[in-house]
Amino acid sequence: MPFESNSLEEHWMPFSGNRDFKLDPRLVVKSEGMYCWDHKGGKLIDGSSALFCSPAGHGRREIADAVHAQMIENDYTPHFQLGHPGSFELAERVARILPEPMNHVFFTNSGSESVDTAMKIALAYHRARGDGQRTRFVSRERAYHGVNMGGLSLSGMVKNRETFNLTLPNISMIRHTWTEEQRFTNGQPQTGAELAEDLQRVCESYGGSTIAAVFIEPVAGSTGTLVPPVGYLDRVREICDQHGILLIYDEVITGFGRMGTAFAAEKFGVIPDVATMAKALTNGAIPMGGVAVRDEVYDTVTNASPQNAIEFFHGYTYSAHPAACAAGIATQKIYEEDGLFERANDMSSYFLDAVWSLKDHPLIADLRGIGMMAGVEVKHDGVPGRRGTQLQKDMFWNGLHVKFTGDNGILAPAFVAERSHIDEIIDKFRKTLDQHC
Ligand SMILES: Cc1ncc(COP(=O)(O)O)c(C=O)c1O
Repeated sequence: MPFESNSLEEHWMPFSGNRDFKLDPRLVVKSEGMYCWDHKGGKLIDGSSALFCSPAGHGRREIADAVHAQMIENDYTPHFQLGHPGSFELAERVARILPEPMNHVFFTNSGSESVDTAMKIALAYHRARGDGQRTRFVSRERAYHGVNMGGLSLSGMVKNRETFNLTLPNISMIRHTWTEEQRFTNGQPQTGAELAEDLQRVCESYGGSTIAAVFIEPVAGSTGTLVPPVGYLDRVREICDQHGILLIYDEVITGFGRMGTAFAAEKFGVIPDVATMAKALTNGAIPMGGVAVRDEVYDTVTNASPQNAIEFFHGYTYSAHPAACAAGIATQKIYEEDGLFERANDMSSYFLDAVWSLKDHPLIADLRGIGMMAGVEVKHDGVPGRRGTQLQKDMFWNGLHVKFTGDNGILAPAFVAERSHIDEIIDKFRKTLDQHC
């Protein structure tokens, strides 16, 4: 008997107001290029690449065809003491676009898994060097590093934490980089580099030799696009080097062209030791994440065990799943063949100028942006987050998808966007703001 769902009750939706959503659902039933269609037939333009996942636009046949062919050829091979060719090809392709000397990639299934994997890689690396007392991690206020217990412990967004207070010990939080004088700065703020000294203070309080790694989103994404001040990342790198601390970039959003370069590391000219990735690795089509490391990190961990032994006791049943690898390879080919990172770079100033055209609107509190990513912060209505949540819903019915976190709308269009698409996104954003005046 054919089954057609008539109930929304059974699915407990993530990061959603379940009761509210189910009273007035917003279902996407089709997506193609820059657009999606809802269950009532409405057409929406996608202003956030879904969840910053789909820079090549939706419904890419090349990816679907590659996954289909892979599923028929070989549907699943685990990677524990076994392999399939796709993972090696994908790792090689990713290594090719990573900055030197980052040439090794460990695959996961999400950004959250990538962050927890990166924490374990840091611990394994120090232990292999005989530096096993390094068990402290440093992260930042307003950071988002996923929802697993490691990444949650590194996150600085209160709503994500307060219910789950049993987080890891030995985590020090330093300040985020946004300051009042940066309000409405387009690109990198000129002020705020001195906030990197917070890391030095943690080293002085706890001893730099007890710190395993510092986690940094090069541009803090989910909190509403906080762009690093000029000189900030350089100073963080310097302090890490001085104390033997690993610098870990969480590039789950910034990876794969969002900054107009393959990775944010290249954009800012400061190379980490480890970098997480997910989302755009497969254009969002199949869940997949990864952790890239410098050669020295890989070599140290792998060479610390006897030839025949497992070197890193970590992995997931679905690490480097063949379908995900096929999607990843097809996606990387599209990025390369269509020159999408260069396209993102070329479109960035048009996009950011369009975003800044909202500055005069009475509901706008701040604008921040770089590359193909911008935070549009609206004034709260007395209850933080309430207006943003309502705006997101109203935009949907006005034909625009934008991801909001609290009162921050995060615009991140696909790199296939034409100028007319950018105009349409900003136009619909403004019109929806007008309805709230
Ligand atoms: C910087 C960063 N790290 C980690 C994550 C978690 O990724 P996932 O939702 O795939 O677990 C996200 C998700 O938005 C992110 O933005």
